[in-house]
Amino acid sequence: MLSDLMVCPTTRRQGIAQKLVLKCERICVSDFKATELYIRVLEDNDAAMQMYSKLGYEIMDNPDDPPTVKLLHKALSSMQDETTKV
Ligand SMILES: CC(C)(COP(=O)(O)OP(=O)(O)OC[C@H]1O[C@@H](n2cnc3c(N)ncnc32)[C@H](O)[C@@H]1OP(=O)(O)O)[C@@H](O)C(=O)NCCC(=O)NCCS
Repeated sequence: MLSDLMVCPTTRRQGIAQKLVLKCERICVSDFKATELYIRVLEDNDAAMQMYSKLGYEIMDNPDDPPTVKLLHKALSSMQDETTKV
């Protein structure tokens, strides 16, 4: 589970969050042998929802979460051989 990602307001839209998430994904694969990553995002957080969508995250149905919260998921298995990038 990835959480608490925030970029300074003065440096947004420069690709920083995208690079941080990709780096986290690679650490999860290389150091923890993770095969998937989950993130909870507020439904009305357009910036985060669009960023994670761009990175390949998909919305999962999760009846345990309130309707305003979306659980996002990405399979990391395709990254198993890419752990040296970024
Ligand atoms: C969400 C957040 C982390 C994005 O950080 P960022 O460094 O600005 O994001 P990036 O520059 O890597 O953006 C990557 C893509 O996300 C999408 N995106 C980012 N900010 C966006 C915005 N304000 N509106 C719409 N799409 C946005 C775009 O598709 C963007 O690609 P593009 O710039 O080529 O169009 C940042 O807005 C933030 O810190 N928000 C407050 C905290 C927060 O909501 N954290 C997420 C909690 S789950």
